[in-house]
Parts: sequence; structure tokens; C-alpha cells
Amino acid sequence: MENVRVVRHPLAAHLLTELRDVGTEPERFRHLARRLSTVLVLEATRDLATTTEPVQTPLVQSQGRRLDRPVVAVPILRAGLGLLETVTDLLPDVRVGYAGLERDEETLQPTSYYLKVPELRDTSVLLLDPMLATGGSATFAVGLLKEHGATDIQLLCVVAAPEGIRRLTTDHADIRVVTAAVDDGLNDVGYIVPGLGDFGDRLFGTS
Ligand code: PRP
Ligand code: URA
Repeated sequence: MENVRVVRHPLAAHLLTELRDVGTEPERFRHLARRLSTVLVLEATRDLATTTEPVQTPLVQSQGRRLDRPVVAVPILRAGLGLLETVTDLLPDVRVGYAGLERDEETLQPTSYYLKVPELRDTSVLLLDPMLATGGSATFAVGLLKEHGATDIQLLCVVAAPEGIRRLTTDHADIRVVTAAVDDGLNDVGYIVPGLGDFGDRLFGTS
């Protein structure tokens, strides 16, 4: 799985364990999701291209570096919103699009109810969706982003199932995934095991 990077960091493991805990209430869950996404964003942006640029410090003329290309973040609604604030904090110039997808609980097929994205050509796209389960939603979202011109896409997720990784990287071999964990698999209703339950519900206190 050369396209998949699993963040191995004690702090990430600690935060993820608290997210998994069934006793974690929405306010704490949101806080933990923001913190964990810092680690994911730093990992995903590690290889962004930069250009050397002169900078005048208060003391001397020196050389600095700036990001080469615009970064676009696209959270998949709703759960992806839990990762967005960190991205806008760390990358103040980031452009943000939104993809509204909903997975049918019976068929597990995603449908799109909203899509608004900025120009995606010649950008680095960070697709935000904390749960990669069957991979149907992420695969569908990547297809939509490619139709809108995206060529460089990374998926940031919190927990991925092997089934979802296989589906996504088979359908889109060019996609890179950064995740905090690869879990055991899916149960018979399409939930990740051990997982953390329904991320969107836990983030927003719904069920
Ligand atoms: C969840 C999750 C992913 C999707 C993953 O969203 O946030 O988008 O399921 O499942 P998949 O890999 O099998 O497609 P959901 O449809 O529950 O919507 P929500 O975020 O609004 O709760
Ligand atoms: N979506 C979630 O939020 N959790 C899962 O385990 C699977 C899909």
C-alpha cells in the first residue's frame, strides 16, 4: 500500500484512543478531532513543493521558501467538517470547497446532494473525510473532483478499513491517503471495526 501513509505518532495514537471511546461526548470529540487533524495535515503537506524567495528580515536580505501552488481543502459533509478548522488554521490562504455526500444505510451507496468547489486545476487538493469504510464515498468524491480538473488529490482520514483503501486505490491509483489508523475491517452493516462509530453523529451529537 505505497499510496497509504499511516501516521505513527504516540500523540496521534493517544488522541485516536479517546475518539474511539464510546464515553467521549461531542464537545470533547470535536476538540480531539481538531487536534488529531493537526498531525494528519502536517503529514499530508510534508511534500508540498516550495519555491525559494528573497525575504528582507529586520537584519538582512535572506532566502525563504513559499508554497508553489494553491492548496484547496474539500471536506465531505458532514463528518469532514471536523477536520476543516485545523486546515484553515494551518494554511491561512487555503481555498475551501464542499462536497455533500450521504451514504444510504441499506445499500451503502453514496449520493451527492451538494458540490461547490473553487478552481482545482494546478492545485493540491486535500479531501477531508475521517471515515474510509467501503470507500464508496471517497471514490465518488474523487471522481467529482477530477471532473472539475483536480489532478493532485490526497485523502485525509482518521480511520480507514482495508476494504475502503482497496476500493479507492483500485479505482483511483493516483490517490494518496493519510490516515491515523487502518482498522480490521467492516461489520455486516458497513461500519468500521473496531472503528469509532458514526463520526458525523458523534461530532454533531445526532444519532
Ligand atoms: C460517513 C463518513 C463517510 C462515509 C464513509 O458519512 O463520513 O463520508 O460514511 O463510508 P463509505 O466509505 O462506506 O462510503 P455519512 O454518509 O454517514 O454522512 P455524514 O457524514 O453526514 O454522517
Ligand atoms: N461512517 C462512519 O461514520 N463510521 C463508520 O464506521 C462507517 C462509515
